[in-house]
Amino acid sequence: MRIMLLGAPGAGKGTQAKILSEKYNIPHISTGDIFRYNIKNETELGKKAKEYIEKGLLVPDELTVKIVEERLKEDDCRSGFILDGFPRTIPQAEELDRILLQRGTGIDIVVNIFVKDEEIVQRLSGRRVCLKCGRNYHVKYNPAASEGKCGECGGRIVQRDDDKEETVIERLKTYHRQTEPLIDYYEKKGLLYTVEGKEKIEDTTGEVLRTVEEAAQKHGI
Ligand code: AP5
Ligand code: MG
Repeated sequence: MRIMLLGAPGAGKGTQAKILSEKYNIPHISTGDIFRYNIKNETELGKKAKEYIEKGLLVPDELTVKIVEERLKEDDCRSGFILDGFPRTIPQAEELDRILLQRGTGIDIVVNIFVKDEEIVQRLSGRRVCLKCGRNYHVKYNPAASEGKCGECGGRIVQRDDDKEETVIERLKTYHRQTEPLIDYYEKKGLLYTVEGKEKIEDTTGEVLRTVEEAAQKHGI
């Protein structure tokens, strides 16, 4: 299955993508995670991406598309994948269509997770991430059992640099300006399913899984 998750920053794309990836045994591809990995390791790509990310802006399309194109060539993507945070602009979506069409495939299902802006700010300012395995926590909604320490790998839990309130506000503006038009783009293709990001992670998961199963049946996947 080739699934795409759309939604504002903090809508819960990463959280749900990880669950879907385990359930369907397909890779979770997050451009944000790829950029953060490169920033941490101080690669050339990381240095370029950092300039944009810390301002709440998008990394240029050309750079981003190249990374995804390479990633999709890997063997583990043959039986499907989950895209999280890509595409984020209309040109990226058009490039993705081109890349997949070359292989005679396309996206099967687009799940748009909708959450109000006010709630996003709350969620992101409370988010904490594990430096070692990348697992996400939230000080209120999803706290780690022992404070400051990852329950999965024991790594240190910190706040992401771009989760500072002023950067979150910029990221939201960027989302509304550049990414929201994708909702229409996929609606017109008949691929879009919108679910409301609920107060509880497991409630959202229930909705996402139901939607994916229904859509898969409808499209015969
Ligand atoms: P990226 O890492 O993709 O960030 P984002 O889209 O801003 O998304 P987030 O990771 O902040 O949110 P999420 O939807 O994954 O939510 P999460 O599950 O973590 O990108 C970072 C930056 O890289 C971008 O700003 C951009 O600069 C650049 N970039 C990336 N891709 C790019 C592209 N294609 N083109 C150009 N530039 C690109 O959940 C958030 C929090 O809420 C967590 O704490 C979680 O525990 C909590 N939570 C989740 N679900 C629920 C729920 N149902 N109820 C309560 N709390 C919840
Ligand atoms: Mg994410």
